[in-house]
Amino acid sequence: MPVSTTGATAAGLCAFIDASPSPFHVCRTVAAELDARGFARLAESEPWPSDGPGRHYVVRGGSLVAWATADLGAAPFRVVGAHTDSPNLRVKQQPDLASAGWQLVGLEPYGGAWLNSWLDRELGVSGRLSVRDGNTVRERLVRIDEPILRVPQLAIHLSDDRKGVTLDPQRHVNAVWGVGYEPGAFLDFVAAHAEVHPGEVLGWELMTHDLTPSRLVGRDQDLVSAPRLDNQGTCFAGLRAFLAAIEEPGAAVPVLAMFDHEEVGSQSDRGAQSDLLPAVLERVVLARGGGRGDYLAALAGSVCASGDMAHATHPNYPERHEPAHRIEVNGGPVLKVNQNLRYATDAAGAGAFALACAQAGVPLQRYVHRADLPCGSTIGPMTAARTGMSTVDVGAPQLAMHSARELMGASDVAAYAAALAAFLTPDTTGR
Ligand code: CO
Repeated sequence: MPVSTTGATAAGLCAFIDASPSPFHVCRTVAAELDARGFARLAESEPWPSDGPGRHYVVRGGSLVAWATADLGAAPFRVVGAHTDSPNLRVKQQPDLASAGWQLVGLEPYGGAWLNSWLDRELGVSGRLSVRDGNTVRERLVRIDEPILRVPQLAIHLSDDRKGVTLDPQRHVNAVWGVGYEPGAFLDFVAAHAEVHPGEVLGWELMTHDLTPSRLVGRDQDLVSAPRLDNQGTCFAGLRAFLAAIEEPGAAVPVLAMFDHEEVGSQSDRGAQSDLLPAVLERVVLARGGGRGDYLAALAGSVCASGDMAHATHPNYPERHEPAHRIEVNGGPVLKVNQNLRYATDAAGAGAFALACAQAGVPLQRYVHRADLPCGSTIGPMTAARTGMSTVDVGAPQLAMHSARELMGASDVAAYAAALAAFLTPDTTGR
């Protein structure tokens, strides 16, 4: 059944990314859309309503799970999974440094950041603060879109061989933000932006973002140049698909699950290795009057599409790719298969996603990593292991993964969203 996805455009993706510099801001951006569509946010610490069909979501730190239940009895789930985090440079706990007359902010890499791409860019700061409020602590998101930080490159004349330098993550990624030295100045600056007293800031997760706006590029403007396409490309396409699916329900309960911490292994209170997804799904069944047996039965018929960006074949490095599995931008969604289960895809999951692509009328590309190169992974294998759900790893093609500035195809945005929407609205869920 083709489901029409509205708003799944490249321009929409650019706006989504520019609104979402950190995982916490991804959740805020998605939550605002859900709120506008009549979703209610539930607290995990409180009982959940048992008054039948509804549109709900929970937020746990930088992770979010949303679902919409129609009158589906013990229907299984169709889950679109994604991750909200992207590799970047993050602020250390004692950020104020001085060197050679410069005032520096101490940064370190998060995840597999491609460090060379972070040099000589104007960087802002975002994240969340834990702020003291009397004898309690509250969370406050902060976002500074002023060009306050820059990690300067070494002059080519000072390099050993003029062929480039090897970047040391301890010594070479600190940012300059002025001259002179003033201890405590950086957190004072952040606190002032957040309109809180510096002495009340008890904890923080702060990270940098490139301030260059996302935009369409290329002769025909058919490419998207943006930060964080991995994996906000999937967060956006998944959200558009989910919002389309809830308007045309299929035989399953549509779920959107977006996890923090994928880039560092997913092992946290809110990563894909946590209990977040199984706990939410079980409570969804319990809230509609089912028991644990109903939950396990629902899981047995459920399928998860783990969405994460895929490697398009690079024109300058075609030899880095499996030659019989060329992947093209604007060539449609990608099915990712790895015999050593770096991707969770099996024949059953592949069947579910390939059928969805056929129903949506979009082409499907099949990706295999070179057997002589180590393959990255996704939330797919963990979600599969945590829930026992049949899982398929999918994505949209891009270049420059983990660069501060990535590149994907503009028409792949709509194709990816259409495929995920069809996946979320199956005619039957026979597994
Ligand atoms: Co990713």
